[in-house]
Amino acid sequence: MSADDQKRISGEAAADLVESGMTVGLGTGSTAAWFVKALAARGLKDIRGVPTSEATATLARELGIPLAALDDVKSIDLTVDGADEVGPGLSLIKGGGAALLREKLVWEASSRCVVIADAAKKVDALGKFPLPIEVVRFGHVHTSWRLADIAAEFDLPPPRLRQADRGMVVTDGGNLIYDMASGVIADPAALAAALKSITGVVDHGLFLDLADEALIGTDQGVVRLAP
Ligand code: A5P
Repeated sequence: MSADDQKRISGEAAADLVESGMTVGLGTGSTAAWFVKALAARGLKDIRGVPTSEATATLARELGIPLAALDDVKSIDLTVDGADEVGPGLSLIKGGGAALLREKLVWEASSRCVVIADAAKKVDALGKFPLPIEVVRFGHVHTSWRLADIAAEFDLPPPRLRQADRGMVVTDGGNLIYDMASGVIADPAALAAALKSITGVVDHGLFLDLADEALIGTDQGVVRLAP
């Protein structure tokens, strides 16, 4: 089974968790897109989707899913989203699609968070995927120097500004992304706290103690994991 098929079956399994009347957080990325498509195909009445990016909002609108902004809902029943790495205890690296800030805001407003992924995303230790860090534009080079100091404390290389074909990647919130390549993040909680202590950092892609379950697409079908 291809990685995309594994993403598809995990997204379809997650869509089965949604019930009529629910407010649902809609993740971002190729796996979350499978979820959004499967959800739309179910044709449930009275659901509201809270998108985690402009890209997901566009897809959901095209598929006829009614949308609400985060500030228009009191709480979210269920959020389903992809991940770049799924580590021990369902610790995650997210943000490969530069949507980590809106994703984390939606996740934190949710009663239940389900991560969906293909089998290759499951890792024994976080860190092979470069950790995305969202940084405000003003003084971002200075912020990157401070990030490099923190990286050194954690035996990690300095972060690099994410570039696309047309220049710097700019998030939906107008910020920039630095990626901190590593190898192994030995203490994700300590690194998360250190990164948040820097003024220019808006947030980072470490999602710790947020996922309630994972649905991993494998060649043998969807495997459910708890923290
Ligand atoms: C978006 O910013 C990310 O957090 C995605 O959820 C993550 O990169 C997974 O993307 P794929 O499902 O495309 O692998």
